This record gives sequence, C-alpha cells and structure tokens, in this order.
Amino acid sequence: MKRYLAPMRGLTEAVYRNAFNRHFKGIDVAVSPFITTVSGKVSNKHIKDVLPQNNQALPLIPQLLSKDPQGFICVADKLFELGYEEINWNLGCPYAMVANKMRGSGLLPYPDKIEHFLETVLAKISNRVSIKMRLGRFHADEILSILPVLNSYPLSELIIHPRTGVQMYEGTTDLDQFEKCLFLSKHPVVYNGDIRSPSDFTMICERFPLIAGIMMGRGLLSNPFLGEMIERAQVQMDFFRLKDFHDDLYNQYRNILSGPGHVLGKMKEHWKYLSQCFENSHHILKRIQRTMNFNQYESHVIAAFSS
Ligand SMILES: Cc1cc2nc3c(=O)[nH]c(=O)nc-3n(C[C@H](O)[C@H](O)[C@H](O)COP(=O)(O)O)c2cc1C
Repeated sequence: MKRYLAPMRGLTEAVYRNAFNRHFKGIDVAVSPFITTVSGKVSNKHIKDVLPQNNQALPLIPQLLSKDPQGFICVADKLFELGYEEINWNLGCPYAMVANKMRGSGLLPYPDKIEHFLETVLAKISNRVSIKMRLGRFHADEILSILPVLNSYPLSELIIHPRTGVQMYEGTTDLDQFEKCLFLSKHPVVYNGDIRSPSDFTMICERFPLIAGIMMGRGLLSNPFLGEMIERAQVQMDFFRLKDFHDDLYNQYRNILSGPGHVLGKMKEHWKYLSQCFENSHHILKRIQRTMNFNQYESHVIAAFSS
C-alpha cells in the first residue's frame, strides 16, 4: 500500500521532507503544502520549495490552491517545465479565510464551478492532476454531487479526507461516507485522516482493500517512525535517532532562516507534534514554547531527550 506524507503548510516544506528522508523510511511520496496561484504569479519562496534540486529525497507532487483556471494553468506550466508531470489541486483547505473566497473546501458546494475549472484547465495543461478533498464544506453529502463530475475527467487520483470543511479537525472521520465514495469514484482513491498507529493503518487497509494508498500527516509528525513501524512490527521508538533528526532539522532551519524568532517559531510548531513522542509531552511542550533564545531552547531539548 503506497504511503504518502501529507501536505502541512509551515511544517512539511522541503527542509522537513529532506531531513525526514535522511533519518526515516516508510514513506513513498510527498504532496507539497499548497502553492497559491493569484493571477498566475507564484512566490519565489513557493517555487524554491518545489525546485527539483531541493527535492532529491522523496518523489514530490506539488499542490496548487486556486479557483482561477488561468492562474492555475500558468503555474502548472511552470511546474511542468520543472519536470512535474503530476500536480495536485487542493479542494480541502477548511480555513474560513480560504474557503470564504471559494477556494479549497469552499468550492465543494459548487460542482458546476469545479466542472468549469476542470474543463478549462485540463484541456490546456500537460501535467496529470490529482485532487485532495474533503467530503464537503458544510455537509458530507456534497461529495456525492461532485464525484459524477470528477468521473468524467481523466484525473490521476482522489485523496479524500473524510471530514467536512466546517468540521476542521473536530469529531470523527466519516468512514461510511468514505466507503460510498470509494465505490462511486472511477478514479483511484487514497485515504487520509487520523492515522496515528500501525493498527489504524491496518484497520483502514482491511476495511478498504480497494484504496490506492494512505496519506499521513499529524500522526507521522507526532511519530516519525510510524512508516517504519507499519512496515516492520519490531521497529520501536529510538530516541537517539529522533534526537539526530531533531538536530538536523534545527540546524537546517538555522542555516536558512534569519534570527532566533523565525527558527524557534518553526521549531515550536514542530514540537506541537514531536512532543507527543514523550511521556511528559505537555510539560515538555510548555517549556519549549516559552523559550526565547537558542541557548534556552537547546537546554530544554537536551532535558527533554534525557528525560
Ligand atoms: C498545520 C496544518 C497544515 C496543513 N496544510 C495543508 C496544505 O497545505 N494542503 C493540504 O491539502 N492539506 C493541508 N493540511 C491537511 C493535511 O494534509 C491532512 O489532510 C489533515 O491533517 C488530515 O490528515 P492527518 O489526520 O493524517 O493529519 C494541513 C493540516 C494541518 C494540521
């Protein structure tokens, strides 16, 4: 079963993907955090993140967030020139700032707009397109009106996170609705959501033997050994390896970001997940969140690993 690293903006950019791949196995492909395509312009930062020379480790599928076909086409062309034969369209972002502008999950109540977008875009670009989506923005049934539209286009796959946009990350995933989608979709379907342990992974594989893959986000960031644990039952948490990974990630950020504010801000975001490897996670996270300079941060990290 193919395993995907989920896109997580601010976290799973190239620095993380490369560091992850230097220290851990068990992931086959990554989808990049979304790139916006306002009037076909794309920021240097976003392009740098997907440049092939910065992504030698894991195969990468760049993701675009757009409701504007022309902008999407321009950026898709740029990505094709860079060698990306496949790109992903984000129809899942739940944040009001995005969704209220009819982007991400904000497009899900409008199958006709999705159809117009695909009709315009797919005729003009050379990349294959996959879609990462939720069940709907407001209701889990919205997807039932979208799937017939998607079925009439040559998409490479659908990655479905079975929650609605307004649910954000609350409540449970709707596995019954996911099952319906799996049978209704003509395209290969990848499952995404709440995989936190090898047994969660096995449960999804057993219940949905027809899926094409499983994508993991928060569970993998909280336990970077998860992919290896899924592959081999004897793999255990190894704090020496985890510390090496942490130090690598931290040093990479120190090399590319300017000043303690940026570097520590980044590391604090990672610790929201990494801290879950530790028994006293709440305490460790609280202490790390309060650090103001590199010395303080490093001594809290050493304390965490020696505990
Ligand atoms: C901090 C954060 C940033 C995210 N950024 C993106 C993104 O850029 N593109 C996207 O499609 N999904 C994004 N997601 C959603 C994840 O890719 C994934 O669908 C979600 O976390 C559910 O999977 P999980 O339970 O395995 O984490 C983000 C989620 C979080 C928590």
